[in-house]
Amino acid sequence: MAADARVLGWLTRALQHEMTALQQYLAQSVLARLTGHTELAERLRHEALEELAHAERLMQRLIELGVAPAAGAVPPARLGRGVADFPTLNRQLEQTAVVLYQDAADHARRVRDADSEALLRALAAEEAAHYGAWSQTG
Ligand SMILES: [Fe+2]
Ligand SMILES: [Fe+2]
Repeated sequence: MAADARVLGWLTRALQHEMTALQQYLAQSVLARLTGHTELAERLRHEALEELAHAERLMQRLIELGVAPAAGAVPPARLGRGVADFPTLNRQLEQTAVVLYQDAADHARRVRDADSEALLRALAAEEAAHYGAWSQTG
């Protein structure tokens, strides 16, 4: 099927988000480890790997649609003033992701790209779970 240009745009924006999230969680994990928060460091590293898996799924969809993944520029990781700020920063990150995926999935539905829509809805649900987890943290 011929790929819808805006679906490709949404998938690319989503990939940029995932690379941003991967960098943020990995950087926070390093900072947590360096400041002696070993358990938090492990949790953040696990989060980073989940975002990496999301990036991989988006890359697969882009490649299926005939496009080479290009995440573009990734903004700096948000570290705040240290580990106490991480829950707030990460809730913001995940909230952004949920809105992005819902809007992207709505577009995929409008152009009847069912496979992209299914992927985007699944990722929206997983980001909502991430948001919920950070909401219980502080
Ligand atoms: Fe993600
Ligand atoms: Fe996430």
